[in-house]
Order: sequence, then structure tokens, then C-alpha cells
Amino acid sequence: MKPARSPERPDEPASPGCSPPAPAEEIPPGRGTASKILEVVPISAPRPLSAALYTEARQHMPGGVSSPVRAFAAVGGEPLVFASGVGPWITDVDGHAYLDLVGSWGPLILGHAHPEVVEAVCQAARQGLSFGATCPAEIELAREIRGAFPTMDLVRLVSSGTEATMSALRLARGFTGRTGLVKFEGCYHGHSDGLLVKAGSGATTFGTPDSAGVPAEVACHTVTLPYNDADALERILASRGPDIAAVILEPVAGNMGLIPPSEGFLQRVRDLTRQHAVLLVFDEVMTGFRLAFGGAQERYGILPDLTCLGKIVGGGMPIGAYGGRRDIMERVAPLGPVYQAGTLSGNPLSVAAGLTTLRLLRQKPEIYQHLEEIGARLEAGLQQSARRHGVPVRMQRVASMLTWFFTDRPIRNLSEARTCDTRAFGRFFHGMLERGVYLPPSQFEAAFLSAALGEAEVERLLEAVDGTLAEMARS
Ligand SMILES: Cc1ncc(COP(=O)(O)O)c(C=O)c1O
Repeated sequence: MKPARSPERPDEPASPGCSPPAPAEEIPPGRGTASKILEVVPISAPRPLSAALYTEARQHMPGGVSSPVRAFAAVGGEPLVFASGVGPWITDVDGHAYLDLVGSWGPLILGHAHPEVVEAVCQAARQGLSFGATCPAEIELAREIRGAFPTMDLVRLVSSGTEATMSALRLARGFTGRTGLVKFEGCYHGHSDGLLVKAGSGATTFGTPDSAGVPAEVACHTVTLPYNDADALERILASRGPDIAAVILEPVAGNMGLIPPSEGFLQRVRDLTRQHAVLLVFDEVMTGFRLAFGGAQERYGILPDLTCLGKIVGGGMPIGAYGGRRDIMERVAPLGPVYQAGTLSGNPLSVAAGLTTLRLLRQKPEIYQHLEEIGARLEAGLQQSARRHGVPVRMQRVASMLTWFFTDRPIRNLSEARTCDTRAFGRFFHGMLERGVYLPPSQFEAAFLSAALGEAEVERLLEAVDGTLAEMARS
């Protein structure tokens, strides 16, 4: 099975474009418009246009990409250049269609170019791209977010997940009057200086920068602990609690591959932070509206003081949000002394895409059931294929976030993730690509399922997994 060429609309954008409003097509979960592409005869062509464009891209942009992981450095080979996406499919500039399990790194829970979302954006664009002032849909989006996340008494919209976490932590410092931060190793919270930090030689060493350009004077305020290690948190809070403003974590980690919280971990983090008057910040940029409508905090029943959102909340357009307890959020300017601002914050286009996406998710809770079912089928199918072909690989999955780890042991933190066979992952990635499936190009990233995946696409994914593992076992 090879990437499928789509003769449907090879030269057209997948979206209907900004044409006059047409009645939105109703797409139930798992019934992507692109299921038609399945009827197309697969071909095994090289990708000359992708290769030429990537060469050109490197002339103009560092590494030919606008964000590092897109460069395929972890799996080898040259990145593809994509032309369009529709439903569960993404099509490269050479016309090959792939089932997309990257989903723009999480936002596209409804699949590509959902007609209602595209239409909402087009309608908003016709009214003006940005006002730099409050617009009605922005208020609606804030209301929708608060409805989903009862811990968010007040919400501030920003333009990315990075801005959300950076601003939430400034707020935590402004509110508590303390400077130190605790994060967990392998959790990614965007690229602001204080969060690009890893542990030193000891697990509880104050941090050293993870990137050139981050001053040691900034990084030294961030303590990094192993994920799932509440004892380490207990120790650091016992010794340094009065210096620590906040503990930030991904309640389900997705940035070292998918790692669920161990039994009781989140509860202990909540209890310890409360005991030391340290604010608990859940970074739900990935998990918000994905693990459940109300994110990980709804799924696990643990309530943070502040929450950061991104990805799905913008429905595929640039956005972020942070919010939480009223007494804390009232410290944000213009109500309080913690300054944070943004020219395009709450812009009508991002807000329209986000609001339409959230309304669809709220009105159709069966979407989450559907995602759970296809996730479970993929997991069971992988186990069968792995056994059949004798390849040591296991899937870690929570709802529609998952990772194939090439190991035979459970992975609970970054050190364990690093023991996995990343070369085997690279072969798996390329085998899947050749079979028409686009995965995140790194062992240390989560894959995302979309509601546009239907029965036929799941079968196709399972066939691709089986074929790839069979090939890996032979070589
Ligand atoms: C958990 C988490 N927090 C924050 C971010 C940063 O979001 P953005 O890329 O929108 O700045 C990401 C990005 O992947 C993320 O996964």
C-alpha cells in the first residue's frame, strides 16, 4: 500500500475558500469528506516537487522550516511540503494523500478544513480581520471556555500556547510574590526563557538552560523534576516551598511521547502545592478539549489554580488562553499590576474558528466516544501485529493522544522514554509514510486522532501498522 494520489481536486485548496456562504455540510464523527480518496488507486511516485520546494525553503528559512520538529531531524529524510488537507487526509504538493495523525500538532480534532469552521472564518473575515478591541465572538469564546473549565473564573485570550504559559507564570509570580518555578522533565510548555530548562546532574538541581540564548540567571529559577515523581516534589517543596510561586505540568504528558500520570500523581501534586501555598498550573494546551471537553482536569477530577490552553481552542488558527481563580486573575492588567498584552489577542478570525470548533464538540459529545473507540481499536490492533511479528513496540494512549514506543516496558518519564529504540521508530515512521500515513516525525511526540477518521480509515491504519511491522521484522 502506497500513498494515494488524489485526482479529486489535486490543484484546488481543500477548503471551500472564501466564497459566498453556502449551507455547511453536516459531517458526523468518522465520516470525513475525503473517504472518497480511498477509492483511488495508490501509486508509488517519488516526491520531486516536495524535494525542490524544500531545497528552495532552505534558502530562505532556517532549516527550511518555521518550527524545528518539522525538519525530520529525528527520523531522517526530507520533510514533505503539503498543499491541502480535508477531513482525515493531508495531501503533499506531489499529489499524494496521507492519513494525518499529526493534525497540525493537535488543534485539528475535527479533521482538516471542517466546513463549518472554514465557513465561520470566512464570514468573520468579511467583517474585518482585526479590530484591536473587544468583539462579540471573543466574549462568546470566553464564555464557552469557562463553561468547559469551571476552574477558569476569568479568561485572558492570547495568540499562542507559549504566550499562555509564559503569562500564567508571570501572574503566578506577581500573585505570590515568589520567584521559583517547578516544572517536570520532558514537559514542554512553549519556548519562553524560564521554561526551556532541563535538570542538572541531580533531579532537584536548579535548572541550566536547554537552549543557547537563555541567560543562566533566568534558568536558575526553574527547578526540574522527573515526571510522575511526587516524592521529589515533596522534597523540593519541603526545602524551598517559600521560594516557589508555581508548579506547572502537562497533566498528561505529550511532549516526550505520550506519558499518562501514574495513579495518584496528580492528586499528590495538588495536595502538596496546596499545603505549601504554591499555585498549581495545568498546561492543557494539548489536553484541553481533547481528553474530554473539560480537558485533563475533567477526566481526572483534579482542579488547578490556573489553566493554560491553546491548539483546539483556536480550531486550527493561532490562539492561546489562560485563566483561573478570580482572585488570581484579578491581578492581571488592567485590573491589577501584572502586565500582559497582545495586538492580535482575541482577533475575530481565530475566535471564529475556535468558537465553532468548541460548539461542535459541546453539541456532539459522541465525538469523544468515537475517538475513544478508534483509539482502543488501534491499540488492540498494534498489540496483535507486534505479537505476530515479534517486534517490541507498545502503544501508550490516553483518549485520542498516543505514541508508539519501541520498547517492551511501560514508559513513565523522560529517562525511560530515552531508553526506547529511536532508530526503530524512524523505520516505523518511514514505513508508515510509504503506506500513506503521516505520523509525528519523532519518537518524543504524541500522535493525535481526529473525529474525521472513519471505519475505512481505521482499517487502513491497521493494515499500514501490520505491513510496516512485518517489514521491520524481516529486515
Ligand atoms: C503542552 C504544551 N504547552 C505549550 C505549547 C506551546 O504552544 P505554541 O506552540 O502554541 O506556542 C505546546 C506546543 O506544542 C504544548 O504542547
